[in-house]
Amino acid sequence: PATLGELAAAQGRYFGSATDNPELSDSQYTEILGSEFGQITVGNTMKWQYTEPARGQFDYADADAIVDLAASHGQVVRGHTLVWHNQLPGWVSSVPDAELADVMRDHITDEVGHFRGQVVQWDVVNEAFEEDGSRRQSVFQQKIGDGYIAEAFRAARAADPDAKLCYNDYNIEGIGAKSDAVYEMVRSFLAEGVPIDCVGFQSHLIVGQVPASFQENLQRFADLGVDVALTELDIRMELPRTTDKDTRQAADYATVVEDCLAVSRCLGITVWDYTDKYSWIPSVFPGQGAALPYDENFGKKPAYDAVFAAL
Ligand code: XIL
Repeated sequence: PATLGELAAAQGRYFGSATDNPELSDSQYTEILGSEFGQITVGNTMKWQYTEPARGQFDYADADAIVDLAASHGQVVRGHTLVWHNQLPGWVSSVPDAELADVMRDHITDEVGHFRGQVVQWDVVNEAFEEDGSRRQSVFQQKIGDGYIAEAFRAARAADPDAKLCYNDYNIEGIGAKSDAVYEMVRSFLAEGVPIDCVGFQSHLIVGQVPASFQENLQRFADLGVDVALTELDIRMELPRTTDKDTRQAADYATVVEDCLAVSRCLGITVWDYTDKYSWIPSVFPGQGAALPYDENFGKKPAYDAVFAAL
């Protein structure tokens, strides 16, 4: 095997990358995107603000462009994301309370139906919990109540019985109050017959701070009876890069890959884009960055070599 995607595939997993439409005009970028990775996540344009900008008006043109590109390279696609409090068009918050459950179901039915057969996993609900394990007070939580998550999963299953349906969140990589709450939700869903197949661990990590219990945590979810996946991996550092930080970052990437591979139900790993040129980190965490396996000039960093060796 010569690529990260091939190395993962040889073990029945995938190694993929998120991407976004504006980057697709960069031919140096698309060359590596199409050859190195076995899986693609649409980084933005499957989100509600893009796919249903006005009630009942659906637009999948940008997402379709990425899905078609992935198909042309034989890459599988993760769908991200159906129900989330961010990148939600304003009109959703103005829907009368009693109509919001129908609006949510209609959104899921249309989007999952559109991509049926093209998306292997869906992030059905994203980031529904607070750090202390309580429910985030999103518009869905406030107007529909605790049952909105189960309702979302039921609607997704009806729209595509073959796609794996995931709950996805951040800061649930280690064992703690937040991951405990997700664990309890998954346990109850399985007990009640709510259709859930997987949990996505976003894995927006910091150099030197990979949770020591990551593998144990993945395994406890797998033991419940769901698959797990690392869905948005990046490992950021305080800028500027130094040789020392690159070395520590590489070790952290290796650890995370090993944590996934040690769990037979870990489906695969997705980096949240592959090059520092297009990382979301610097815009959201000022002074931090250099979080990905390729630098901004598409050079392979020590992190790339560490992932390659660990796979
Ligand atoms: C980020 C995108 O990368 C940015 O381009 C966008 O401006 C904001 O969203 N958790 C998620 C992802 O689930 O959807 C987010 O993606 C990063 C955090």
